Formats: sequence, structure tokens, C-alpha cells
Amino acid sequence: MKPMNVKELVERMTLEEKIEMCSGVDFWHLKGIERLGIPSIMVSDGPHGLRKQADKADNLGINDSIQAVCFPTAAGTASSFNRALLRSLGETLGEECQAEHVAILLGPAVNIKRSPLCGRNFEYFSEDPYLAGEMAASYISGVQSKHVGTSIKHFAVNNQERRRMTVSAVTDERTLREIYFPAFEAAVKQAQPWTVMCSYNRINGVYSSENEWLLDQVLRRDWGFQGFVMTDWGAANDRVEGIKAGLELEMPSSGGVNSARIRKGVQEGRISEETLDHAVERILEIVFRYAENRDETAVFDRAADHEKAHQAALETMVLLKNEGALPLRKDQKITFIGGFAEHPRYQGGGSSHVNSYKVTSALEAAKELDVTYAPGYDTNTTESDEALLEEAQEAAKKADVAVVFVGITDAMESEGMDRRTLSMPKNHEVLVKAVSEVQKNTVVVVMCGGCITMPWIDDVRGVLYAYLGGEAVGTATLDLLFGDVNPSGKLAETFPRRLEDNPSYLYFFGDEQNKTEYREGVFVGYRYYDKKNMDVLFPFGYGLSYTTFEYSNLTLDKSEMKDNDTPVSYTHLTLPTILRV
Ligand code: BGC
Repeated sequence: MKPMNVKELVERMTLEEKIEMCSGVDFWHLKGIERLGIPSIMVSDGPHGLRKQADKADNLGINDSIQAVCFPTAAGTASSFNRALLRSLGETLGEECQAEHVAILLGPAVNIKRSPLCGRNFEYFSEDPYLAGEMAASYISGVQSKHVGTSIKHFAVNNQERRRMTVSAVTDERTLREIYFPAFEAAVKQAQPWTVMCSYNRINGVYSSENEWLLDQVLRRDWGFQGFVMTDWGAANDRVEGIKAGLELEMPSSGGVNSARIRKGVQEGRISEETLDHAVERILEIVFRYAENRDETAVFDRAADHEKAHQAALETMVLLKNEGALPLRKDQKITFIGGFAEHPRYQGGGSSHVNSYKVTSALEAAKELDVTYAPGYDTNTTESDEALLEEAQEAAKKADVAVVFVGITDAMESEGMDRRTLSMPKNHEVLVKAVSEVQKNTVVVVMCGGCITMPWIDDVRGVLYAYLGGEAVGTATLDLLFGDVNPSGKLAETFPRRLEDNPSYLYFFGDEQNKTEYREGVFVGYRYYDKKNMDVLFPFGYGLSYTTFEYSNLTLDKSEMKDNDTPVSYTHLTLPTILRV
């Protein structure tokens, strides 16, 4: 399809065509130029399901998109510690994109969980750069094996939602290179994402979208990135400076405003036509890489992919506590309590929001079983309802075991806002207390995108952390509760005992000058808690299974041990905890 090499093609383009190639033509499409055989390609969110919008477009998850399969979000999939799972998730999404004519999937999102308050943590993998990088590289390789591009995001240091469009992340180069860059670096070096999406925020005062050091020196020269960089939606500041710094594509369309600025920049000699040519070449390389490898036979098999979402969910849930209450037995009198059993929380709000093909709740998955149900709280409020609480206690008393479904609501964590607290809503906490008062055998299933505090942990016998488990959440939860599948997830983040223990606590939201100082430096997540020898609720890497292990006679031979530069690699462990030697 490519009529000639892109350099020659660019030579045949008018200045106007080149300028327009550097901006989206609408919300989701790049410009096509018929006379030159340049197709208009489409990009879509991402990351844990396809959010392809047919007509009314927005980047906030407001208007609907086509029906698609919602997989568990990254906070959960990272808990699998399983590269092969991420690779196969990527392959499935890549196939879906081919079938739906989507050229670039906007993900994965790899920002580091600096604070558990970040409203978008559900979309991010981990507090640990190495784990985040391995997960991202595997996902990218999977998607791109189907000849569909990815856009690893948000480059870089986008760790909070509050004032995300303007805030300046103030930090030193060591912290950037050791904590906030390595996930991007690993993904670029191992998997060459076709595109990178820059973040809205500034880094040490300079917007990512025009940060030459970030986009040219670090990304291209240091790491060898070969694709093109696009803005997050509306992240362009000074468009001319942006192109000069290495930001090729502005998304979405700015309605001609930035095209006019680029034109003026060329006329005034602020940017050379040659620099513009390079930007266009990089964009066209990717456009044709997709167009030349179209797979017209690809099918979006929603039923089959729903099953894949189920399999993924099984690996992403983490068993945090079990004092003999689990697995459940089918001969027990079981009651499910809590609205999330019927209306599960399984994905987050914002640009990643998927119009799910089929959602299976725990209650629905249990319909063949003799399970009673009491809602326990009203899902539309955070206040407790006495009548619902009494009903829940009655149901709990009559049962052998009560499974309480709670978590964080959509209104408490989402793109565009940060959490204020690590507590669950009041009515969820009160419900756990009320049920555990009358039923010793209480198990809690938590559905949310990040960590929470658990003032009730000593009152219950079991905790299964479902994270945001995707549309097959109910089936997967039941498989794990009943032991049809052995839980294997391990936390990709530390659960502190109190929010105040988190190292970024004092500075997280930033100051009046719109700066957020990263004063904790490299001591992010477990690096801090370990160093401080601090007691945490659950450490990074924690997760139980129904199997018990015994280690004995372990020996280390110092003549065999080598201290070299190779980082310790995580394998897909099915052990209850990661062994740290
Ligand atoms: C988000 C990106 C997303 C883009 C397009 C932005 O608001 O930050 O993650 O890809 O919108 O929807």
C-alpha cells in the first residue's frame, strides 16, 4: 500500500498538508490524504478493554462506546506477576483492535503509585518500577504482535489527578531515572511501543509536551525510541516548541488553532520545515506500519474474550487473610451480603471506561447454589440504613458463613480526581462490623482499584481482594471462594496501616505555587517501608493460596553467589509470598 518510502512521500506534501498531519482530524482520527494514498487511522482507549467511540466522542468516559469486553484493570493484572498473562491480554486486545479497525490502543498506563490516593491508581500497575516495566513490555508485545500499535502513557511523572493539567512535579534526576522512568524505559527497550503519550503535567517547571530533555534526550537518544509521541488529550501547550522538542502529534484536533501557530512558526523561522518533515515522517511510518498489515480476517469474539477476562480475573485477585473460613463448601448455608454482590464494582471511571458486553455478578454466578442475599447498604449513598443493617444481621445469623461484598465507590476514585482517604465508605465499614458481630465466620470480598485501611481486619476470618476484576468478576470470585481455583495473586503495592505512613503524605497534593515536591525521592512504596522497618497492613508481594508450603534446609553458597548488574527477576510464583533471600 505504501506508494514509496515516507521520505519521498513527505517531499510531495504541501506545507499545509504536513502541518495538518501533526494534529488529529477529530477526536480519534489522524488526518488522511487521499491524493497521496495516506489513510486516516483511528486510535482508541485502552487500556483494559476497547473504548471505541462511534459518534459522540469524549475522553472522560461520558458518552458510550461500542460494546466491548472489560478485562481486570492494571492494579489487578499486575498482581498476577505473570508476563504471559499480560502478553496474552495484549494479543486479545490487538485482535479486537484489528477487527474494529483501530490502529493504536491508548495504553498501557505505567505511572508509579507514589501515593495510594491517586484516583487513577486502578489503571496503573505498581509502586515498583521493575514490575510495572515487565507488565507493560509484555502487554505491548502482545498487542503489537497483531500489528496494532500501543501508546504507553502518561510520560512522565503523572502521579496525581489533582491539577493534573498544570501541576509541576518537582524532583531530581536520580529519582526520575530510578523510580519514575524505568517502566517506560523497559517497555521502550524491550517492546518498542509504536507511540508514547506525553503527560499533561510539567516536570521541574517544563510541560512534558514541550520537554526536549524528556522527549528527545531521554526517550530517543538514551533509550532508542523509534515511534512517535502524541499528546494526552489537549496536553499541547506551545505547539511549536512541542514539535521542536520531539512531540509529533497533537490529539485531539485543536480545530485549526495549533495548525495556524505552526504555520506562523515556520513563516517566522521559529521552526524549520525540516524539523516538521521529520515529525511527519515518524507519524507516517506508523500509519503505514498499520495500514500495510491490516488483518481483514480478525474477529472480535466477545463471548470467547469474556472467558479470557474470567481467566485473567482468577490470577488478579489476592487472598489476604484466611483463618480456615475458605474455601467455602457447597454444603454450607451461605449468605452474600452487600450491594456489590449484586452490582459489582469491576472497572474505574474516566477514559478507560468500557461499555461492557456482559457483566457477571457474584450473585448471578451463584444462582444454581442455595445462597441467600441481603443488600446491607444502599449503593447510592455512604450513609448506613438501619433496616438494611438489621436484615443483613438476620441473614448472617441464619447462615454458616457470611460473605460481605464491599469496596470503594465510583464517586470515590476515578480519573480526574484523587481519593481523600483510604477508608471505605462509612456504610461499607459499618456493615462489615455489624455482620462480624453476629457471625464469627465472616469473609470479606473487597472491590476497588487501590488499597484501603481495614479497621475490621481482626473481626473477620477471611479477605479476598478482588480489585477491579473486569466484567467476569462474579464468576472468578466464586471460583476462588469455593476453591475451584487456587488463589495466586500477590500485591503489587504496599497496604500501609494508615495513610499518614505513606512517604509522600506531607507533599502529595502540592502547594499554592502549583508544585508537587517529590521530597521522599527514591523511597517510594516498599523501598520506604522496608528502610524504615515499618509495620504495614500487607506488604508488597503478599498473597496467600489454599496450599501450605514448608521450606526447610535452605542453604546458600557464597562461592556460587554472584553480585552482578542483572536485576533480580520476578517469576510467576504460586507461592504464598515472595521469598526474599
Ligand atoms: C487521558 C488519557 C486518555 C485520553 C483519551 C485523557 O484524558 O488522560 O489516558 O488516553 O484522555 O481518552
